[in-house]
Amino acid sequence: MCSETNTVQVAVDLMGEKDLPEILAIEKESFVSPWTLGMFRDELKVKHSQCLVARLYSGEKSLVAGYIIFWIVADEAHLHNLAVKKEFRKQGLARHFMDVMKDIAKKVGLKTQTLEVRESNAEAIKLYRKCGFVVKGKRPLYYTDTHEDALIMWADVK
Ligand SMILES: CC(C)(COP(=O)(O)OP(=O)(O)OC[C@H]1O[C@@H](n2cnc3c(N)ncnc32)[C@H](O)[C@@H]1OP(=O)(O)O)[C@@H](O)C(=O)NCCC(=O)NCCS
Repeated sequence: MCSETNTVQVAVDLMGEKDLPEILAIEKESFVSPWTLGMFRDELKVKHSQCLVARLYSGEKSLVAGYIIFWIVADEAHLHNLAVKKEFRKQGLARHFMDVMKDIAKKVGLKTQTLEVRESNAEAIKLYRKCGFVVKGKRPLYYTDTHEDALIMWADVK
């Protein structure tokens, strides 16, 4: 998957070990309780985990602008992590990642997509609603760091 604006190209690619330093920096600026290096390394080893990055290419150089991690379990795609580097937000990257997850889900014959999101994360909730997700339940005090509830959201794969 590739798009181009003047000299900058964006491509969704498989995440690799070499991406982890950049990913950890994005993770730290994005979350109250960021995932650790070990958690990302474990994800890379899980067979049913899809770990993808968005690479921005400018000439010979490239950088990681964001990432998505989701699991394919039974007939569901379960979103585990999604973040976009601050300077590249509000340009449609997360929306693009969500479309990629749905396309992969469709291709492998999944029926539904699901995720948990902090009740206070208005930006992410707005994004997920735009992608067709609806709130179907709550996990009380799911986030132990802020004692927040998680909203459970679902969307059909259509
Ligand atoms: C949430 C996040 C992934 C969105 O990434 P993004 O690339 O900026 O999102 P997009 O540009 O694709 O936006 C898609 C839609 O999401 C919503 N949205 C995204 N950022 C928003 C903001 N700051 N305020 C309000 N709505 C927002 C909008 O509905 C937007 O559509 P619009 O531009 O047509 O209004 C990004 O803000 C982020 O990395 N946040 C920190 C990590 C996080 O919370 N991840 C989700 C965990 S569940």
